[in-house]
Amino acid sequence: MDNIIADIDIVNKVDDEVCGVKVSANENTGKERKMYIESYGCQMNFSDSEIVTSVMKKSGFDTTSDYNEADVIFLNTCSIREKAEQTVRNRLNHFNAVKKKRPDMTIGVLGCMAERLKEQLLEEEKIVDLVVGPDAYRDLPNLIQKADDGQKAVNTFLSREETYADISPVRLNSNGVTAFISIMRGCDNMCSFCVVPFTRGRERSRDPHSIIKEAQELYDQGYKEVTLLGQNVDSYKWSEEQNNKARLEKFEKKGEELVIINFASLLEMVAKVNPNLRVRFSTSHPKDITDEVLYTMKKYDNICKYIHLPAQSGNNRILELMNRTYTREWYINRVDAIREILGRECGISSDMITGFCSETEEEHQETLSLMNYVKYDFSYMFFYSERPGTLAAKKLTDDIPLEIKKKRLAEVIELQQQNALERNKLDVGKVHQVLIEGTSKRSGEFLQGRNTANKVIIFPKEQYSRGQYVNVLVEDCTTATLTGKVVV
Ligand code: SAH
Ligand code: SF4
Ligand code: F3S
Repeated sequence: MDNIIADIDIVNKVDDEVCGVKVSANENTGKERKMYIESYGCQMNFSDSEIVTSVMKKSGFDTTSDYNEADVIFLNTCSIREKAEQTVRNRLNHFNAVKKKRPDMTIGVLGCMAERLKEQLLEEEKIVDLVVGPDAYRDLPNLIQKADDGQKAVNTFLSREETYADISPVRLNSNGVTAFISIMRGCDNMCSFCVVPFTRGRERSRDPHSIIKEAQELYDQGYKEVTLLGQNVDSYKWSEEQNNKARLEKFEKKGEELVIINFASLLEMVAKVNPNLRVRFSTSHPKDITDEVLYTMKKYDNICKYIHLPAQSGNNRILELMNRTYTREWYINRVDAIREILGRECGISSDMITGFCSETEEEHQETLSLMNYVKYDFSYMFFYSERPGTLAAKKLTDDIPLEIKKKRLAEVIELQQQNALERNKLDVGKVHQVLIEGTSKRSGEFLQGRNTANKVIIFPKEQYSRGQYVNVLVEDCTTATLTGKVVV
């Protein structure tokens, strides 16, 4: 399955369907042992699996897409909703059944669930041999050795510095055209419903030189689009001095001003790598997205005009309970700024949660009215799932009955589909520049790619191929896709 941001089948769909699964590809270079990795959750987790693969390759492992022939099975896991964890548990049970026949096999749990449950899966439930949190992947070779020696193999240390800046990810399931670059890790926001600050730790930004180097290398290898990833890209912040304590002291003594690279300047640096390399980013936080970022997007044709700006709710009381730190009015002001600076064509998407603690019917109606104001091109939509340890779990009561949560979710989805169709109809009759990503899932006779606003466009193959830019006249649309033909 493709990445979650890019998969057309899940756009405007529900709940954990967005938690697509990705498995490692086969790569046989004659190494002694084989690793199979299955990844769940967000794009950042998929990106981490590419770091894990890089570490493992250096330590004598090839990858395989068939777990039956693997010496090590890794599940890179997600804790965002209860269902996501349940899916992983089912997989772990399945792999344990496989292990009964192959007792030499090592099963490891990585990522957010490893971080949240720590030793529990190893010591109490005894369904894994290895537990490794998101900041401990450099320790994998040592942990594998420990597991081989029958010792306790757990590392869930969360770092304030680790960004894996120097590790070149091994691209998994790649289409050779689009790739993801992690620009920061962790999250310092404390949205009351969210487990991420607990599973991923404090926010830290990656050295921009290593980001530019990675973008350049990808371009040199033939990639045509990079997506910069972070839980809150707008709070990206880096300075040579700040990130190096010794140099900071020297600077402070001299009383010089620090040169700080913020997200807008990073975006500009990546855009300058090559005008033929498209740049996307995700996720923007409504409280932090600046006009400076919007003007930088406007300045460069190769920065895609698409912003994922999760609102979560359209009601001020709920937004406050969620600790999102913005109001409906603030959010609307940001959407107006996007429309004013980047125009109607800029794609905007959202994440929405229905049935958060104490949400009334009127408050839910305000989410619907916000959706009608913005007219999102697409959305990821969920009903609230209480997560142990979060602020909401500690302080609020999860009091909306499941049927009501689901009923409200169904209303949100229905409205989203109407709005997406309305937005897509505006694209019909227009010519769009499309970067071809590959063959359409529907038919080998068609190709698919995206326009700047991240909309999937399908058109007859003719003589065109993956990695090319083409101009497509859009002739028709559904809620999820646009269809048309190449014009020259
Ligand atoms: N950093 C991103 C979101 C990361 S999690 C942001 O701030 O927007 C992805 C989405 O999962 C969230 O936007 C939210 O809509 C949803 N989500 C997070 N915790 C949830 C929970 N406990 N129940 C339901 N949905 C949740
Ligand atoms: Fe979670 Fe909020 Fe951080 Fe997003 S910004 S990862 S929703 S705490
Ligand atoms: Fe899930 Fe962790 Fe991402 S909880 S959504 S994999 S940061």
